[in-house]
Amino acid sequence: MMEQIVILDFGSQYTQVIARRVRECNVYSTILRYDTPAPEIARHEPSGLILSGGPSSVYATDAPLPDRAIFKLGVPMLGICYGVQLFAQFLDGRVEKGQKREYGKGTLTINDRDCALFRRLPPKLQVWNSHGDKLTRPPRDFVVVATSDNCDYAAIEHPKRKFFGLQFHPEVVHTPRGKEILSNFVHGVCGCGRDWTMRNYIEQAVEQIRAQVGRGRVILGLSGGVDSSVAAALINKAVGDQLTCIFVNNGLLRAREAEVVQEVFGRNFHIKLHYEDASALFLKRLKGVTEPERKRKIIGRTFIEVFDAAKKRAGSARFLAQGTLYPDVIESTPIAGNPAALIKSHHNVGGLPKKMNFQLIEPLKCLFKDEVRQLGLELGLPREIVWRQPFPGPGLAVRILGEVTPLRLEILRNADRIVVEEMKSCGLYYKIWQSFALLLPVRSVGVMGDERTYDHTIAIRAVESQDGMTADWVKLPHDLLEKLANRIINEVKGVNRCVFDITSKPPGTIEWE
Ligand code: XMP
Repeated sequence: MMEQIVILDFGSQYTQVIARRVRECNVYSTILRYDTPAPEIARHEPSGLILSGGPSSVYATDAPLPDRAIFKLGVPMLGICYGVQLFAQFLDGRVEKGQKREYGKGTLTINDRDCALFRRLPPKLQVWNSHGDKLTRPPRDFVVVATSDNCDYAAIEHPKRKFFGLQFHPEVVHTPRGKEILSNFVHGVCGCGRDWTMRNYIEQAVEQIRAQVGRGRVILGLSGGVDSSVAAALINKAVGDQLTCIFVNNGLLRAREAEVVQEVFGRNFHIKLHYEDASALFLKRLKGVTEPERKRKIIGRTFIEVFDAAKKRAGSARFLAQGTLYPDVIESTPIAGNPAALIKSHHNVGGLPKKMNFQLIEPLKCLFKDEVRQLGLELGLPREIVWRQPFPGPGLAVRILGEVTPLRLEILRNADRIVVEEMKSCGLYYKIWQSFALLLPVRSVGVMGDERTYDHTIAIRAVESQDGMTADWVKLPHDLLEKLANRIINEVKGVNRCVFDITSKPPGTIEWE
């Protein structure tokens, strides 16, 4: 069993952030549901346990509570926010509703400089708070290690049992030295090494894939996105040409997308690549369709059909590989106020049929997105793929409002290529979540030279986001916007007007359809 920290999820929106921070300390972490029985937790042989925060009150009737036997597992524990209150609830302390909710920045004063959690940290720290309840009596045998402006028990410790409680959130960026606190916990208190790196992971994953696949054949649907690309490179490293990738060109791709995939995987990686050009079929089925949901359904259905046929032609295979990531498989704690509970039902292109004759291979199933990117770089994938912005499965069809036609696709492709080029050349492309062009179903009057024009409108969208669930529009510099509009109107035939979308999500969505 790999050395690891187990995190019990009590419904905090930051649970996955805690897990990522631990991994950034090069220690593997696993998220389990708050009510996972202690013996099952013990099977993971954790070096330490972290109790996440959560939106509930420990004294509420429907509060999520852990198996009380976890306090007897004999491993170090760190309770964060709600986690501290659980210590109080189970180990004879007291929690009450605070006079005022403590939210936002605060200053922590460390009284016990010997506390292992705060080793090598200054006596005062900026921390981030978000809690309504507070401890009014610490749990038995705990000592107070630090206080804050509004909280007498901001950090507590049971020195003998190595239990620690933090009322603030060390995992968020607004606690600037928080990562060092977590590092002190996992390395200093739990004694973990630094074995979790993507370089080590490659060896381990390659072995696992070989053991699972044996001499069998594997099929993988390659979209050109980060996840399927990294999965392809990894499986290829493990089983070479036992892997066949299928790339479907649905005719709704951006400029040069199909070429890049063929270049990188076919020519650089020598991966067996079946290139399936189904553009004509997709466009035929989309003819005359303007309703967004119908477009999506047609594209989804056609994709499955084309992929299945291509799979059959690629020959029999026992394994189907997928680039599923850890956030897709974490069993989220269904507590109101936890956005992670929603993220799971997110868009899934194609979808798997209920009855499958395949065994699944999901070599990225325990990785977060940032780890997948790191892994991709270790495997030698180009930055162009590893740091690619997300692109929807239905492609440009959801960025062409109204009917999708070859002419409109060409207009959008040309405009979008300019947006990507300019965003890359000013260094913003890899810093933000998405930036792209849309084609609107309106024409307007303009003048070009001495001539009156009556042409299409392109909208430019640029958004910042962590996970696509919420997003802010990016305040692109005016001179960049000016350059974009100039280039698009001058270089793209059929466009005489450019607008910039200043809608955030919610209330808008990122894509327009
Ligand atoms: P919306 O438009 O819902 O998009 O705000 C949120 C994020 O999801 C992407 N998106 C998709 N991704 N298949 C995908 O794989 C889809 O059908 C799909 N629709 C939207 C979108 O680009 C944004 O990043």
